[in-house]
This record gives sequence, C-alpha cells and structure tokens, in this order.
Amino acid sequence: MTINQALVAATKKIKNKKIKTASLDAEVLLAFILKKLKEYLYTCPQKELSKKQIASFKNLISRRIKNEPIAYLTKNKEFFGLNFYVDRRALIPRPETELLVEEVINRIKNQELRIKNQSLTIADIGAGCGCIAITLAKILPTICNKRFAISYYATDISKSALLIAKKNAKKHQTKVKFFQGDLLTPLKNKSIDVVVANLPYGWQQWKNNTLAENRGLKFEPPKAIFTKEKGLYLYRRLFQQITKRKQKPRFILGEFDPRQKKYLQKITKEQFPQYQLKIKKDLASLNRIFVLAVKG
Ligand SMILES: C[S@@+](CC[C@H](N)C(=O)[O-])C[C@H]1O[C@@H](n2cnc3c(N)ncnc32)[C@H](O)[C@@H]1O
Repeated sequence: MTINQALVAATKKIKNKKIKTASLDAEVLLAFILKKLKEYLYTCPQKELSKKQIASFKNLISRRIKNEPIAYLTKNKEFFGLNFYVDRRALIPRPETELLVEEVINRIKNQELRIKNQSLTIADIGAGCGCIAITLAKILPTICNKRFAISYYATDISKSALLIAKKNAKKHQTKVKFFQGDLLTPLKNKSIDVVVANLPYGWQQWKNNTLAENRGLKFEPPKAIFTKEKGLYLYRRLFQQITKRKQKPRFILGEFDPRQKKYLQKITKEQFPQYQLKIKKDLASLNRIFVLAVKG
C-alpha cells in the first residue's frame, strides 16, 4: 500500500463517520506514524508503506473513527507554540486558554505587577498537563529579562494529571513546583502574587448538549471538565479560599463559559469588593477570561 492509497482509504473511512476533518486527520496521523512532516506525504505519494506502518496507521484510524481526539492519538498538543505531551489522564489544552497566559504576560510586560523584593510568585490552580504554568515559566524569563525572580507553583487534585505535568515541565526544562491537593490548600503557607486558573466549568445541562456535539469529550477526564453549581462550584470555592488568606494575590485570572458571566459577576462582587473585575473576550468574541485586580 502506498502513502497515497493509505490516505485515500483512511479519509473515506473517517468521512463515513461524519467527522469533518477527515482528510486533515488522515494526514496528521500518517505523518505521525512516519515521523515526518505532513508535506512529506505529498512529495512521496507513491512510497510503499511497511507492514508495521500500515498496521499502526490502521490502529489509529480505528480509534479516530470512534471519535478519540487526535491529540490523544499523537500524544501531543501544541499550546502557545510549545508541544505538550498529553494522554487520557489530563485535559487537552484548548486555544482559548492561551488568552489566560497572554493576560498574565501582558500584565508583567506593562509592569502592572510592580515587584517588591525582586521576586514574584505565580500559582496555576488546576494544572492538568501543566500548559499554563510551564508556558509562563518558559516565556516570562525572557520577557522580564531576568530583572526579578519568578517562582511557579501549580496544583491539581489529580495525581495522574500531575505526572503528565511533571513530564512536560522536564521536557521544557522549566522549574515549576507541583502540588497535589484541593485548589490552593497545598499552598496555604506560601505567599502568592498571581493566581491563574482554568478550573472545570462545565455543568450538567451543558454536559448533555456538549457531549452530543463534541463526541471527543468523552475521552477526557470528566473531573477536568464538569462540576456543580452551574459550573462555578470550584471557582466559588477558590475565591473563598483566597478571601481567607492573610496575604491576598494582586491578580486572579480565570477562564469561564460566556453563559456564566452574570453569576461570576455576582460572586466576585460579593467576595472581592477590593478587586476590580474585567472580562475579556476570546477570538470568537465570547466572554471567556476574567481578571480580578486589586484596586489602586
Ligand atoms: C479544565 S482542566 C485545565 C487543565 C489545564 N490547566 C489546561 O488549561 O489545559 C481543570 C483541571 O483542574 C483539576 N481540578 C479539578 N478539581 C480540582 C480541585 N478541587 N483542586 C485542584 N485541581 C482540580 C482537574 O483535575 C483538571 O486537571
């Protein structure tokens, strides 16, 4: 079987399952098996595949037609231009989460975070594969030109997600300290300047609708996606933990669903009168990121 024949057959199989990205999926998976760039497939379409390559490709295609996300098949997802190892133990990073990272970077670039004692601490709550903390740890030192030291902490309730995050931190040669536990609890005694969180914010009704639309979601850990109280249970508890801390962070940033805006405004107003709330839109012009900044 040649590269071209394999691509045609696989695209047809995927298309039959009404997966819209059939031809791209077939290309990505074959390039992955061959350890080549996608372009290679079109420079050598008549190249014969080995038996082993055909078997591996067929195996991935059979998983793809059951809607398993490409990122789990290739064990990789690009986030902010960096490649992250992913598997079913952690959520696949989403493009909208890059906005959260961008917001933190902008605040440091604009020097909104004036640095006392030449140091700053950033905590990523609900780290998953570690994409937020690791990207910040990779990018911020060049942006702040090593003028001050930044410490990075990350917490997750899931032990297995943290194993992935640690693997990614090593891969990107970053120093992020990971802690297993509930929200900020493992960081009780640490002073934190910035809290950045992409906590699960899906809720039951959304779950029913979304699972029908996005069949790939069933492969991701449900505890990384869904929670109670219209999806804001974990953020409400995170806010409560913050209000109980002696030393309050200067910035609290998080990702949410546009339909949660009113409820989010209500709970942040109640719990954080000393903070100003800003809501930022994503690339689809939907309210997606909140930034709470200490007033004054
Ligand atoms: C939506 S995922 C985000 C993962 C990653 N930060 C990202 O943006 O791709 C939420 C993460 O929060 C974690 N989580 C859920 N409940 C938690 C809790 N009570 N304390 C800490 N982490 C929690 C989940 O295990 C999951 O890894």
